[in-house]
Amino acid sequence: MDWNDLYEAARDAREKAHAPFSRYAVGAALLTGDGRVFTGANTEFGIPALGVCAERAAVIQALTCGARNLVALAVVTGSSPPAAPCGLCRQTLLEVVDDDLPILLANLDGERQEVRLSELQPQPFRFRPGG
Ligand code: THU
Repeated sequence: MDWNDLYEAARDAREKAHAPFSRYAVGAALLTGDGRVFTGANTEFGIPALGVCAERAAVIQALTCGARNLVALAVVTGSSPPAAPCGLCRQTLLEVVDDDLPILLANLDGERQEVRLSELQPQPFRFRPGG
């Protein structure tokens, strides 16, 4: 997989982070099977629980635009080594993808690591009504 375009989309989205409390900016970019890209940046509010991670912002962007076939994710932070999505985002992602999701973890210094969602969240919770 050629990650460059998705990396650049996540890097550019990171510029839109609204993180006045943590001062930690995250950008995420999701690719769909038909080549569309949906991005998100972390957004913080005065009540910490109201904050939204970049990855979940990108998922909401994609779903609300009608996209369903999410095939790859890039996440860009300023961390070294590059940071992985938090537990809430891992759970969110696995509920909206059909297949195992390839994820690029990257920073601004050229460090890159490719992982799969199944590695990050090997034993996920699956909601089964009445189960
Ligand atoms: N953050 C993300 O955007 N994605 C993650 O997977 C972990 C953390 C954000 C939330 C908060 O705005 C900041 O990073 C510091 O935790």
